[in-house]
Amino acid sequence: MAHKIILDTDPGIDDAMAIFFAFQSPDIEVLGLTTVYGNVPVTMAAQNALTLCEIAGKDIPVTKGVGMPWVGPESTYAHFVHGDYGFGHIKPEAPKTELDPRSSAQFIVDMARKYPGEVTLVAIGPLGNLALALRLEPELPKLVKGVTIMGGAAFVRGNVTPLAEANIWNDAYAAEIVFGADWDLTMFGLDVTNDTPFSPSFVETLEEKNAKLGGFVKDTAQFYMDFYSANREDRVCFFHDAFPLAHLRHPELFELTEGHVRVGTGELDRGQTAVAPKGTTPSPLWNNANTIKVATKVDHAKLEQLFIDTYAL
Ligand code: RIB
Ligand code: CA
Repeated sequence: MAHKIILDTDPGIDDAMAIFFAFQSPDIEVLGLTTVYGNVPVTMAAQNALTLCEIAGKDIPVTKGVGMPWVGPESTYAHFVHGDYGFGHIKPEAPKTELDPRSSAQFIVDMARKYPGEVTLVAIGPLGNLALALRLEPELPKLVKGVTIMGGAAFVRGNVTPLAEANIWNDAYAAEIVFGADWDLTMFGLDVTNDTPFSPSFVETLEEKNAKLGGFVKDTAQFYMDFYSANREDRVCFFHDAFPLAHLRHPELFELTEGHVRVGTGELDRGQTAVAPKGTTPSPLWNNANTIKVATKVDHAKLEQLFIDTYAL
């Protein structure tokens, strides 16, 4: 039985690798790509999502979503990580296909109503579309199968501040709404993604296995590797966004822990995902909060092989 998913994304180089992984996965049915600002402005994210669908020959809905955080000023985006156009050194041609006229939030609600209990929301960017969808349809948690995200840093340092990971930091109030909703949420944060560096030979192998999709990932990853390797001896990058998708298909590759989660929204703790494993704190501020599942370990070798084998299909 295929996993019906909506991929909420801010493409983005690791988003692109994850989107192609989902497209290549025989047991994943992508109902649509819903875009959000984050790595790049939402208009660019939407155009990039159309481009990725055209490269992969996928005819599925692509929607444009929120372009601003729930609270606060416009983002300054992450062009220093993902490049001027979100694909490293590559300036993509304008896509020929059109966006679905619905907003990302409306598309999420429509699909959840169309396929009650079947759709998994896979969010690999900031969480504004999911938060807005919750406001549009308060029954959404009952209508979706579950939520799985790339974001957060439960027991490790952040990548934007010492406490916060980018997707959560970018829209901390939206994240607070999403983490506070009564649905089954699994978080793949820097605890596992920053623990899994990928080398130049990995992206070269993806290209060998799949010249079109792997070749695009390899080409866009060069800029991305420059950024991640700046203060390292070795040349690496991190394909954060594919982790929730890999877990959907092969949960046995991961270890999860369950805990109460609170999201920081203050000046210092903005975007912190403070997780207290059950029974570890007397504080009602945590014990009365939702519990989520947090990925704490992954089998690096088997994960890398899964990516390679899937691109090779
Ligand atoms: O912190 C990593 C996350 O932020 C990834 O989703 C990356 O694409 C960026 O959105
Ligand atoms: Ca992303």
